[in-house]
Amino acid sequence: MIIKYTGPLRGELSIPGDKSISHRSVMFGALADGTTEVTNFLTGADCLSTISCFRQMGIEIEQKDTHVLIHGKGLHGLTAPLEILDAGNSGTTVRLLSGILAGQHFNSVITGDETIQKRPMKRVMTPLTGMGADVISVRRNGCAPLQIHGKKLHGAHYDSPVASAQVKSCILLAGLYADGITSVTEPAVSRNHSELMLRYFGADVKENVGSQSNAEVMSGINDRNASCVKGSGFTVSISPEPKLTGQKIHVPGDISSAAYFIAAALLVPGSELLLKNVGINPTRDGMLRVCREMGADITLLNEDHTGAEPCADLLVRSSSLKAVEIGGDLIPTLIDELPVLAVLAAFADGTTVIRDAAELRVKESDRIAVMTNNLTRIGCPVEAAADGMIITGGKPLHGAVIDSHMDHRIAMSFAVAALACSGEMDIQGAEIVNISYPGFYEDLARVCR
Ligand code: S3P
Repeated sequence: MIIKYTGPLRGELSIPGDKSISHRSVMFGALADGTTEVTNFLTGADCLSTISCFRQMGIEIEQKDTHVLIHGKGLHGLTAPLEILDAGNSGTTVRLLSGILAGQHFNSVITGDETIQKRPMKRVMTPLTGMGADVISVRRNGCAPLQIHGKKLHGAHYDSPVASAQVKSCILLAGLYADGITSVTEPAVSRNHSELMLRYFGADVKENVGSQSNAEVMSGINDRNASCVKGSGFTVSISPEPKLTGQKIHVPGDISSAAYFIAAALLVPGSELLLKNVGINPTRDGMLRVCREMGADITLLNEDHTGAEPCADLLVRSSSLKAVEIGGDLIPTLIDELPVLAVLAAFADGTTVIRDAAELRVKESDRIAVMTNNLTRIGCPVEAAADGMIITGGKPLHGAVIDSHMDHRIAMSFAVAALACSGEMDIQGAEIVNISYPGFYEDLARVCR
């Protein structure tokens, strides 16, 4: 796809529903008693994979566009899938479902596309095994396909070496089927949608940092003026066998999708764009904190809540940006936004350093290698590090042939870069945006005036 839009970006846009919350609404709805009604569900391919896996396990799910009804059958209502479960390109589906499957009364196999079959699954296999689960990597390479023999699990504590919401959520979901309390400590706070939503459905979930109480932890997390969420040694625990009840969920717009429009509006002079109803959960809003530090003009309007999740309209005006350092506890709160933040850094004044982000190497692509390669192609001086990138911004950049490596976030990041580059951007594998943002190019064309 060849992209040459002209700005500025003006008007308003409703961003599609949050991917993480859409996945969880189906999973938790399936394990609840009664019907869960979801509005503004994300119809991206990843979330549709989650729906199809639960249909394979006997859950009736009615989906009309962004409106979804999940007829839950309770914690023990899933039935054995007759075929291999196919998670497509979705890491969230494989990792969270593994936790659920480990505690079932049946056996299953879960896998996904070529990319998924290369992504690390030991990170969930290890804690699950510690809970007594029987999970093996069929090819003995620590990746999917995973063969899972469902069993009664034991409550356990796990000290996770990575700040990963997928690992944390997998353990909490397995904990629903354990014989005692299950807890997980992570090195920094990762997105907490599972905690918020499981509690909303009726589970007993507690958060703690050392001797701090739940409320103290959450007020620290909620401090929007802090440069990042502080939470080393953040522990979450869950009690087994709760009674979950179907809920109504209106999914807020995905801040990870909004990120491309925030970046585009900041970069193109004369832009003023209103992004409606975007989720601003403090464990996800690192991009806003970093943009503010770069000098971005972003105003939060109409702050509100949808269910357990905070949301707001974001008014973004073009701004001249300066380089920043991005690392530490901030990383999990903007992990999916680092590719587009790297694009912003390429146009910012000075040298931006991204560190502590080795997780980028095991996403849908090796995002450090792929971003470094593609930024070089558009003329940006950039150096890869083991756990990040050093990006020197401010030079005039030009369009080039970009290889998305079939990674949705790479394709969208360079569609944004195209707006501020001279010449044309040719994005190979551009259609991969359907994973998390069907209609992305149409929305971008619509707000480019
Ligand atoms: C997700 C967690 C993150 C994120 C992914 C979605 C989730 O992954 O990158 O896009 O829904 O829990 P990790 O938990 O591996 O950091």
